[in-house]
Amino acid sequence: MAHVLILGGDGYLGWPTAMYFSNNGYEVTVVDNYLRRNSCTEIDVGMLYPVPTLIERAKIWHEKTGYEIKVSIGDLSDAEFTRSFFDGRITYDWAINSEFTGIPESVVHYAEMPSAPYSMMDYKKSNFTIRNNLLVSSSLMYAVRDLAPRTHIIKLGTMGVYGTPNIDIEEGWLEVEHKGRKQKFLYPRQAGSLYHTTKIMDTDLYWFGVRMWDLSITDLMQGPVYGIETAETKIDPRLRPIFNYDEVFGTIVNRFITQSIEGYPLTVYGKGGQTRGYLNLKDTLQCVYMAAMTPAKKGELRIFNQIMETFTANELAEITKRVGDKLGYNVTIKHIENPRKEAEEHYYNPTYQGLQEIGVDPHYLTDEVMEEMFKVVEQYKGNIRKDVIFRGVKW
Ligand SMILES: NC(=O)c1ccc[n+]([C@@H]2O[C@H](COP(=O)([O-])OP(=O)(O)OC[C@H]3O[C@@H](n4cnc5c(N)ncnc54)[C@H](O)[C@@H]3O)[C@@H](O)[C@H]2O)c1
Repeated sequence: MAHVLILGGDGYLGWPTAMYFSNNGYEVTVVDNYLRRNSCTEIDVGMLYPVPTLIERAKIWHEKTGYEIKVSIGDLSDAEFTRSFFDGRITYDWAINSEFTGIPESVVHYAEMPSAPYSMMDYKKSNFTIRNNLLVSSSLMYAVRDLAPRTHIIKLGTMGVYGTPNIDIEEGWLEVEHKGRKQKFLYPRQAGSLYHTTKIMDTDLYWFGVRMWDLSITDLMQGPVYGIETAETKIDPRLRPIFNYDEVFGTIVNRFITQSIEGYPLTVYGKGGQTRGYLNLKDTLQCVYMAAMTPAKKGELRIFNQIMETFTANELAEITKRVGDKLGYNVTIKHIENPRKEAEEHYYNPTYQGLQEIGVDPHYLTDEVMEEMFKVVEQYKGNIRKDVIFRGVKW
């Protein structure tokens, strides 16, 4: 049986990914240190609903499906801990069969501090984000280089690394012609937060690893994800992923839906012309899975832009309002002073064919899809804390 190691397996994307691979016949090991949950406590933002611990979720998954997801709790920025998943020293915190599963064919690397506002709150959080994200990425790269050179690393990057250039955004690489000579380079990156800057540095680290040691790496430049339900979460609501609706950890569609239900005006930053690429949680799972099924070649850094469609912030607010109003919420939209330093109107034309070419079948943000999300969030209306929705983290 193929084996996948999922780093950051407790996270918004990590847990649904673990269930998806498990449901599709993989041996799955998840690792996490609860950084995301602890950071929410640290800055006092609640999640929409309580989520069982990773070990509890693995037990529920086993009880409901008979499948095992092995769990290990620990800090992956500690290189020795990361190496233990490749040399067999690991002891699992929960497993049905606690023998070492063996070297994974694929590693999905989600284990980073993923919030731009968090990374911009103060110098301590910025330093933490830089240290954590780079050390996890580097510890993994060295573990694979030394102990498992044939293992395929699938790392999550972000579309945010490209910024908003005035030319079309290619999938990771740009052919440059200079004084009559040509070469392909990493597409120019110009991030808008320190978190996004760590993603640029991750890619640089991995491009180095590919050039020096012939590693096989797929880097997925993902846009903001929306959604709650996947085929697997429908088995039991306790299997739903963590869901944030605050400005620091929540993604825009998830936030707008929660704001509508709470009667809080949708917070559009500035003019609202900021255009980004988006995707459904279900498509994140497909993309990562298809990347694992068709690994990058030895000595290849393969980059895909992981989005399915683009919207401006204004368009997302309008769709949310249309669906919310239909459901009886009187949704209002408020253009507030932009706390971020970013272009509010700009050219944006990214390429994103690669993942569909390897078999991903996109879901789109239709009114029906949004309505389904409203129906789930409504169940937790009583838990929504108005005071954490917007804080105005400035940069
Ligand atoms: N959610 C999105 O919209 C989105 C968009 C683009 C890119 N991404 C990227 O995808 C990945 C997953 O995002 P997410 O939304 O699931 O975030 P998340 O915070 O929910 O998941 C990341 C998980 O990694 C864990 N983690 C972080 N550092 C760790 C460490 N040192 N040791 C062990 N575990 C650690 C966290 O506790 C968390 O559970 C991140 O790398 C993020 O940058 C996410």
